[in-house]
Amino acid sequence: MHILTAREFTRTIVDDFIESSRAFRAGRRADHRSAVVGLLFFEDSLRTRVGYEVAATRLGAATTTVFNLKQSAAMGTPETLDDTIRSVAGWLDALCVRHPDEDAVPRIARSAGIPVINCGNGQDEHPTQALVDLFAIEELIGGIDGLRIAIVGDLNAMRSAHSLALALSVYQRVQIRCICPDGLGLPSQVLEPVRCSGTTVESTALFDVAGMDVVYVCGLPAKTRAGELSDEDQAAYRITRPRANAMAPHARILCPLPRIDEVHRDVDDTVQAGYFTQSDLSVWMRMAVLDRVLTAQHAGM
Ligand code: CP
Repeated sequence: MHILTAREFTRTIVDDFIESSRAFRAGRRADHRSAVVGLLFFEDSLRTRVGYEVAATRLGAATTTVFNLKQSAAMGTPETLDDTIRSVAGWLDALCVRHPDEDAVPRIARSAGIPVINCGNGQDEHPTQALVDLFAIEELIGGIDGLRIAIVGDLNAMRSAHSLALALSVYQRVQIRCICPDGLGLPSQVLEPVRCSGTTVESTALFDVAGMDVVYVCGLPAKTRAGELSDEDQAAYRITRPRANAMAPHARILCPLPRIDEVHRDVDDTVQAGYFTQSDLSVWMRMAVLDRVLTAQHAGM
């Protein structure tokens, strides 16, 4: 059993993950003492890599970090990805993988013979970040059905935005407002299935979050597919304290982090700032994810 894309999520699957996360948060224990989880990150990661390490430890499992191919190169010749996976997968029970190449994680999943968790494949997806985001919304706001959710930033390139939009499409009556500069909207391969599910998606280049329950901010770098953005262009999409204060008291600002400057630091102590709580909550969801894949692996599913 792999977790490669939010396209495979159903309402039953996400509800099960959320229920399991709540149970772990409430003190449920699981015993995966015999398991070893491999962490294979070809890109930098703090939250996802360390988060899965902590989650595995809390489940009783051990972890091992598989250093990337360049670091493990012998005699100056990098070992191939396929040979690396063939070598380590036989010793492990699951692999958490991040890779800058969109095709690498699915390719690893095809050959690994153990569950693979996609921790970010290029600009494509980050499906378990979406599960973290759904859990945070559930815990901070309540149910997700019927919510109005703004997603702000470079929605073309940000994999967290892709997986979140796809994951939200399993809910009823969710309205997504994409707020981004022209040319940086969700790619059609994300937008089309989300719209086909019946989820309403509107797009605007204006920063307008009036009436939103959640404002999900996922970063707007200076260099984008649509060209260079000036600081003024970027500032138009930044969350400032006045903008946070103008949001409804129940509304929350979420961000997958790391942030650069898309959310001003003086927003952190507003009631609407939910991003560090979102980060705190992520460990329970990562436990739920590992518990599910390790249980399935040991049951031979
Ligand atoms: N949100 C997220 O993926 O953070 P890291 O890059 O630190 O893992």
